[in-house]
Amino acid sequence: MKKLSLLTLIAMPVLLAACGGNQQKETHQQEAAKVDTSLPAVTTPAPSATAVSNTVEISGNDQMKFDKTEIRVKAGEKVTLTIKDIGTMPKEAMSHNFVLLKNGTDPEKFAMQAMTSKETDYIPASMKSSVLAHTKTVGPGESDTIEFTVPKGEYEFICSFPGHWSTMRGKLIAE
Ligand code: CO
Repeated sequence: MKKLSLLTLIAMPVLLAACGGNQQKETHQQEAAKVDTSLPAVTTPAPSATAVSNTVEISGNDQMKFDKTEIRVKAGEKVTLTIKDIGTMPKEAMSHNFVLLKNGTDPEKFAMQAMTSKETDYIPASMKSSVLAHTKTVGPGESDTIEFTVPKGEYEFICSFPGHWSTMRGKLIAE
């Protein structure tokens, strides 16, 4: 009797080990199942730069800000640009235009000349040759659309209404 019970004791861990082995196998199968049911990897697009488009809408507001400081277009192809004044302040106090300047133009110098050029819609006659394209000056609720084509390059644009150029400026990149 004593001998038999000793045998049982010796056999027990073997049985347990066998059992444990089985459990381990099951666990592996469950893990495999988990992997199988997981969702397919989603490819998230990289944060994109400003989209290239030759149809451009830009707005100015009562805080003397454009809604865009960077515009990307295709070089050598016609660009259609619309400016809108989304503010409510009277036109005399708060108006906006879009003036695209030739490379090498000092925007501050241009803006200083523009201050005294109300009769020419804030496009100074003395610096007209520095302008690649410009809209008319628009007041609340107004808009203006222009068309232009530019060669490859980076150009500065401003609003030349008095006092606006330092906060209303950006880059137009033709690529
Ligand atoms: Co303005």
